[in-house]
Amino acid sequence: MTEPIAPFSKIPLFKDFYYGFIPNKPFYLPEHYPNLTNKTAIVISPNSAVGSNVVKLLFSKDCNVIAIVKSQSLADSMKKKITKEYPQSNGSLTIIGMFDVLDLTLIKPICDKIKTILNGKAVNIIIHNSGLTKLRKSEKESKQGIESVFQINIMVPQLFQHYLDPLFLKRDDVSLKRIVWVSGSSQLLGGSEYDNFFIDYDHTFDNHKNNSNTQKRPSSLTIYGQTKDGNIMQAKAWAEKHQKLVNKLECVSVTVYPGNLTTDLHRDHDWLKSKPFSLFSKDGIYGAYNELYAALSPQLTTENQGSYIVPFGHFEKPREELETALEDGTYMRFWNLIEDWIRDFTKETM
Ligand SMILES: NC(=O)c1ccc[n+]([C@@H]2O[C@H](COP(=O)([O-])OP(=O)(O)OC[C@H]3O[C@@H](n4cnc5c(N)ncnc54)[C@H](OP(=O)(O)O)[C@@H]3O)[C@@H](O)[C@H]2O)c1
Repeated sequence: MTEPIAPFSKIPLFKDFYYGFIPNKPFYLPEHYPNLTNKTAIVISPNSAVGSNVVKLLFSKDCNVIAIVKSQSLADSMKKKITKEYPQSNGSLTIIGMFDVLDLTLIKPICDKIKTILNGKAVNIIIHNSGLTKLRKSEKESKQGIESVFQINIMVPQLFQHYLDPLFLKRDDVSLKRIVWVSGSSQLLGGSEYDNFFIDYDHTFDNHKNNSNTQKRPSSLTIYGQTKDGNIMQAKAWAEKHQKLVNKLECVSVTVYPGNLTTDLHRDHDWLKSKPFSLFSKDGIYGAYNELYAALSPQLTTENQGSYIVPFGHFEKPREELETALEDGTYMRFWNLIEDWIRDFTKETM
């Protein structure tokens, strides 16, 4: 378990939160992106203003993009729209449907499909874009009975990464190797009262099927914040776990706060809470600019391993206690804990 957290000033939290609404201008834009011929990117859950723009921009630069969305009809219409918009692209676009991350058993078969599509070629870029702030009214709880925000934001990227590692950590094209874990300013709201990885285990993660006391859970905003803390720890832990190969292949694993954006993320929140946020937010394409800064900018090197990139293209420290967690080994213990929790789904080999 982690060391108890030392008292710290809350003033920087306000400063960082405020910064999200008045960020500096993006300076790394599509005209600066390299041509991505023969490069392959995997974008998970791009059915959003952020993710769909990421897919479009990569495809427009001749990248081979493999995207994964919830349904086959969505996959088909997305593909039709994007290929029509960029008929000149020399890249390829494969969109896999039937993917609902509220069921963890679906991830391995999707990765098998990706392996078949790759046909031995390496993956260059992985963007973990899935995110949920609150279970939608239209959706059921996770098939495995796990708290849904935690499952989608933490367990899904780590489980995907488990099966994508052998496809990514390959030597055949090492000119660009990036993993982007998507966090957010909500890392500031993670809740410091829980000193075990900032998490209230007893009420947050316990499987509902084991009758955990869900009434005592922290608010969905606090859980969302905890998961965004977790994404920052995952970026650094993944690189450390594979350190030898990561250094050899010059892979870079970072977390991005895409910006405060008018996307569908807040669709099931009260109007009174989401409206003021959207009034001061930017269009989703700005989130794509920041994710693609992390994925493509030549400014990033292995020196930036585990960095936190805020809008736009700006390196920042996460909140103070999280910074400590990135130094005292907590991040690695967090990674190992999640490895234990996804073990039931990582038993099969590809
Ligand atoms: N918007 C912001 O202000 C903001 C700020 C900081 C960080 N972020 C992060 O940025 C990322 C992109 O978010 P966004 O703003 O573009 O929000 P969004 O429109 O809600 O996108 C989230 C993505 O996750 C997918 N997703 C959610 N539940 C899923 C499920 N059960 N199965 C499969 N896919 C599922 C969504 O697909 P469906 O639409 O098909 O459900 C969507 O593609 C997220 O990681 C979010 O946490 C956003």
